[in-house]
Amino acid sequence: MKDKIDINRLPKHIAIIMDGNGRWAKTQNQPRIFGHQHGVNAVRESTEACAELGIKFLTLYAFSTENWNRPITEVDALMSLLIETIHQEIPTLNKNKVRLKAIGDLSKLPEGTKKALKEAIALTDQNDRMDLVLALNYSGRWDIAQAAKRVAEDVKKGMLDPEQLDEHKFASYLNTNGIPDPELLIRTSGESRVSNFLLWEIAYAELLFLPVFWPEFNKEHIYEAIINFQNRERRFGKISEQLNS
Ligand code: FPP
Repeated sequence: MKDKIDINRLPKHIAIIMDGNGRWAKTQNQPRIFGHQHGVNAVRESTEACAELGIKFLTLYAFSTENWNRPITEVDALMSLLIETIHQEIPTLNKNKVRLKAIGDLSKLPEGTKKALKEAIALTDQNDRMDLVLALNYSGRWDIAQAAKRVAEDVKKGMLDPEQLDEHKFASYLNTNGIPDPELLIRTSGESRVSNFLLWEIAYAELLFLPVFWPEFNKEHIYEAIINFQNRERRFGKISEQLNS
């Protein structure tokens, strides 16, 4: 599969909605957290595959603002798993020159998770091969609303003239400021929804819904997704003939 990829036409940014941990665990007659634990392997596989190929940004939807509504035991277990994984993976991230970033309302995360994240972000800050962006306590509407609020505040303080506000300026208030829009969005588990993920940023992204549960996801799926992406015609509102001329 890997050989079929055109290295000169890679998406710069891939975003993934990791879905299906719970359902996969059920197929194994195991509790949901077993699925999340195995999901970590898929995180590792996709990060490695993307870094090796030369993808510059990989964003993973790890915890949505809606995920707080899950049973407290599952939320606690997910937060512990995040802390443990982040700690464990720092040497590998550094070895592979991967910089960790986070988007979302991090202020509402438990202290331990915040601390682990902050440490890992600082310790990987010098890496420049690929950015691994974790979306935590994130939702697209939350980000657009907080950006609108900060725009209004800047206008009120006289720091921003509403006349200057265009799409580009507005995007600079989003958590994803400095990160190019994803060109490919993958969701696992067979669901065909975007579930409040990167709503502003996926305006022109190619969407790919794969019928595998997240813990089963591996490097081959990344390769398959990129080949699928490269076989699509991205027109950005133009017609085919304009693209070819
Ligand atoms: C979705 O499956 C998965 C999540 C909400 C959590 C993803 C978390 C991990 C893979 C753990 C570690 C992550 C990192 C970045 C280190 P689901 O629980 O919604 O599955 P279901 O739809 O089958 O119930």
